[in-house]
Amino acid sequence: MKSRLSDLTFNIMLRMVANKRLSRGAVYSEDFREAHQFKDIIEEGFLLVGVFDVGDYLPFLNWLDLQGLKSSMKKLQKKRDVFMQKLARKITARSKGFNQKTLIDLLISATDNHEIQSDSNDDVVKATAISMINAGTDTSSVTIEWALAALLQHPHVLSKAQEELDTHVGRERVIEETHLQELKYLQAIVKEALRLYPAGPLLVPHESTEDLQCWRVSCPRRNPTAGECLGNPEGPGSVGETHGIRP
Ligand code: HEM
Repeated sequence: MKSRLSDLTFNIMLRMVANKRLSRGAVYSEDFREAHQFKDIIEEGFLLVGVFDVGDYLPFLNWLDLQGLKSSMKKLQKKRDVFMQKLARKITARSKGFNQKTLIDLLISATDNHEIQSDSNDDVVKATAISMINAGTDTSSVTIEWALAALLQHPHVLSKAQEELDTHVGRERVIEETHLQELKYLQAIVKEALRLYPAGPLLVPHESTEDLQCWRVSCPRRNPTAGECLGNPEGPGSVGETHGIRP
């Protein structure tokens, strides 16, 4: 289930960003090879980001790069850059007259039309495309996995969701995006999954641009901070609470 969900969300992101897919059918096609190469690059990035780095805790050892992480990251960055450059070039070449615009198409036209100002247009396109895939793939698949696990643990919620689907979509049709607005219970399940199992409970570290005072905590300018998730309707302590999913 995990690998299927991961492929699903990766495919959705990849189609949005570059109109490529990890299709199981066309194994020998160039698209398939490119999509797999892309997936390997993203997975290697996730692996390197999550590895325990001695230099983070003992900064005086940082320069030694004892685990070789920094050199692996630099190598990966080179590989990623070459890959993205090639991809962006291909998309630029076929962009004209092509109706189905991808995120890369839109970024290229925004930089060409000077809607985005930057010293390096190529870097904006490559970095934004990679960020979207990095930020959107694992977060979404992990959340879906948690939601399904919660539904299996609460069969009454699952059968109510099935009833809703039967009423609004039926068993003969596939769910379309247009159905989503009618599926209120499903929407509530998604919100509950995000409340109970936020994929990023400790938000990404930030650095304030000016001195701040948050309640009794002072946060000097340029001080790295990691905030607790604030989007929790029940206040601190209820993330992951034991009463289970209550859509
Ligand atoms: C369940 C799904 C998701 C969760 C839980 C999630 C959570 C988060 C969190 C906590 C942040 C950090 C916000 C901050 O404090 O700066 C973030 C940032 C971001 N997310 Fe998501 N995200 C999800 C899905 C997605 C998807 C599908 C995309 C893209 C299509 C996406 C794109 C981004 C981007 C680009 C940022 C960086 C924003 C910035 O700081 O400029 N995320 N996300």
